Amino acid sequence: MKIALGTDHAGIRLKEEIMEVIRGLGHEVEDLGCGCSDSVDYPDYALPVCEKVVSGEADRGILICGTGIGMSIAANKVPGIRCALTHDVFSAKATREHNDSNVIALGERVVGPGLAAEIISAWLTTDFSQGERHVGRVNKIKAIEERYLKSEAR
Ligand code: RB5
Repeated sequence: MKIALGTDHAGIRLKEEIMEVIRGLGHEVEDLGCGCSDSVDYPDYALPVCEKVVSGEADRGILICGTGIGMSIAANKVPGIRCALTHDVFSAKATREHNDSNVIALGERVVGPGLAAEIISAWLTTDFSQGERHVGRVNKIKAIEERYLKSEAR
């Protein structure tokens, strides 16, 4: 898979570790910044990653900031993105199986590199269950997007 990866200044150390994990699993990684420790704004790095995913240029996206929270909030504003803020392995697997999440957000100030590597590994190697009830629920999320996209166009 092709993985788009973005961080703010609070995620740059974890980003380096995560890139190794992604490559180690045989995936291609596109680093969309940020590249320095100067203070930047996380929505500016969430958006390009999410746009790569919704356009199909990337299969999945990974976002890192201090907590993962700002990144996940910003990402979930992009229609077509299902971003999971995840700091444990159980949730990483479950969000693939149940929610078909296409982006994951992590906080460098929350998890250490060892746990983050296990989370990313679980998330990248778990498939959506395709179970009827889960497909139906994801379709309901898509219906919410449709509803609010339409109301915005009015
Ligand atoms: C940056 O200080 C911090 O606010 C940001 O990385 C993130 O945690 C926001 O949700």
